[in-house]
Amino acid sequence: MKFKKKILCIGAGYVGGPSMAMIAYKCPDYRITVVDINPDRIDAWNSSELPIYEPGLEQIVKKTRGKNLFFDKDIENQIKENDIIFVSVHTPTKTYGTGADMTADLQYWEKTARQILKYSRSSKIVIEKSTLPVKTALAMEKILSSAKSKFNFEVLSNPEFMAEGTAISDLENPDRVLIGSHETKNGLKARAELIKLYSRWVPKENIITSNIWSSELSKLVANAFLAQRVSSINSISALCEKTDADVSEVAKAVGMDKRIGDKFLKAGIGFGGSCFKKDILNLVYLCRFYDLKEVASYWENVVRINEYQQERFVSNILHSMFGTLAGKKICILGFAFKADTGDTRESPAIYISQKLLMEHAELIISDPKALKNAAVDLSGIKGKVKYIEDPYQAAAGCHALVILTDWDTYRKLDFHKIYKSMVKPAFIFDGRNIIDHKKCFSIGFNVYPVGKPALSHFKV
Ligand code: UDX
Ligand code: UDX
Repeated sequence: MKFKKKILCIGAGYVGGPSMAMIAYKCPDYRITVVDINPDRIDAWNSSELPIYEPGLEQIVKKTRGKNLFFDKDIENQIKENDIIFVSVHTPTKTYGTGADMTADLQYWEKTARQILKYSRSSKIVIEKSTLPVKTALAMEKILSSAKSKFNFEVLSNPEFMAEGTAISDLENPDRVLIGSHETKNGLKARAELIKLYSRWVPKENIITSNIWSSELSKLVANAFLAQRVSSINSISALCEKTDADVSEVAKAVGMDKRIGDKFLKAGIGFGGSCFKKDILNLVYLCRFYDLKEVASYWENVVRINEYQQERFVSNILHSMFGTLAGKKICILGFAFKADTGDTRESPAIYISQKLLMEHAELIISDPKALKNAAVDLSGIKGKVKYIEDPYQAAAGCHALVILTDWDTYRKLDFHKIYKSMVKPAFIFDGRNIIDHKKCFSIGFNVYPVGKPALSHFKV
């Protein structure tokens, strides 16, 4: 079959894989190829067990793979072959030198730009899909124009707003698609190409355009605002625990104001995931760079409250269980940073598990999708840890259940059965406020939610 367009994506991760699968699904007359420096990733995308779990992803990949969606290892040849290149390589927080622990490590970006320059045999549109510090496109443009190549490389910014666990529905019905470009003739032409692509399934009014810097900054700011809401409600949860108010009731009353809205007001153990912390720290770094100290410290506190919430949660466990966890068995229900994903990057479960192990607790970790990643995250940490997928087996013989991920299956557990199998007095620490607290209390558990009064059978 002759394809109308040939599109390449460099980086077959959580962003590149699903977003390209969606383009292939919606544009059967376009050929989409995804490459990655990691050959094992490409093998996994070509196998029956995809490298990432995302509801609905497998079905779309099955419908398109081998027809107009290809996963390939030959980066050099694919750069030559394709005219439109999305780049979605990761941009972790830098761990060394200037900006360590704050700004993004852009070495993979730079390497990718150099690869594109080296192997291109025609002009290209290069699209930033990853979340990046403002002005990354400028650096990319400098590299792409450095060799006085006869080809034109037009750089666009098209940040991806999908969330994990709902990637496929977010990609299919995005709130908006944002395209940043230069207002030059070539910039506008490239922008029109991308608008044409998304118009296949996204209503025109949801496709918005801006200059490149606004586009890059909008993605950082969107994530910062979302994280800020989580930290705001979590800060209030601490106050609720002191005043006998109930954070869910407060969130409901506040969120019913249409100006505020009810989304992202669930109190818990804090936000995780590869984006929020990294992007806020990027924003903070950028503000400091421009000497905007007050702005930097305002946003930095969003991360600080997130850490505080996790510290508070661990210290609640310790104090409620009589000040010692040594030798006690604690069943961790959920290790992923949120439900419906196997991803554990920056998961609060990592920090909380480490702290519990430092108190010499024994951990039995359960999760429907994240146990492999959990084992990697905790490798090298001293202490006794077991991994058991079945929550009933995991809980048996434990002193406490600690719920760290909002998996739906945990709402539906048979807590009578679990209670019978546990050491008494039995505790539940519901870090996500997802189970029926009163019911569990009536079964016999001592129940400690977040931001709500504890339900305890102890008289003193
Ligand atoms: C994305 C975005 O790109 C990042 O900016 C965002 O903030 C977090 O999410 P993600 O897709 O989640 O990254 O990262 P990951 O799943 O690690 O995938 C990145 C892929 O790029 C990896 O498979 C890696 O092997 C690949 N890669 C990395 C390359 O192909 N070339 C490189 O030079 C570097
Ligand atoms: C986020 C953004 O939502 C998405 O637009 C962007 O493209 C990538 O970063 P993601 O990290 O996949 O997506 O998940 P998200 O649903 O935003 O949740 C992030 C964290 O916040 C999770 O740990 C989640 O449990 C937590 N959270 C979210 C809360 O604690 N309370 C809430 O009310 C909402």
